[in-house]
Amino acid sequence: MRMNGEGIVLRVSLPFFLIVVMSAVGLSACGSQATDQGMTVSADANAEAIYKKQCVSCHAADLRGKVGPGLQEIGSRMTEQQLFAIIQDGARGMPAFNKVLSAEEIQALSQWLSTKK
Ligand code: HEC
Repeated sequence: MRMNGEGIVLRVSLPFFLIVVMSAVGLSACGSQATDQGMTVSADANAEAIYKKQCVSCHAADLRGKVGPGLQEIGSRMTEQQLFAIIQDGARGMPAFNKVLSAEEIQALSQWLSTKK
């Protein structure tokens, strides 16, 4: 009885499964290059967008610094963890962003800034 039941499920679901897999492969084949590039670009683009919105006023669009210090070579002075901590908790004159940004957004920012060397 049990075997029969499974047999039916398999017979019904296998062709359906194949259709799903094939259309998924078809879709990703069409867009695969765009998606691969999109992933890496969008993490940085996302970080830059957040920076432009939240940080530019004090650190300048080119990271030269204004009210806050320049960040152009911040990646050689601070680790990603240190960056995360200062963005999250703030410092003298540097606001804390833990209420404004999600952990993922702070993570994206720190990763992006850690590449500025
Ligand atoms: C209101 C102005 C202001 C804003 C907005 C601001 N900062 Fe700052 N930031 C400062 C100041 C001032 C300091 C220096 C703090 C200190 O001396 O301890 C600083 C320090 C830093 C540092 C450490 C730099 C160093 O050389 O020690 C980093 C990294 C940083 N900010 C990143 C950011 C990021 C990322 C954002 C946006 C999410 C941001 N800041 C938004 C004012 C600001």
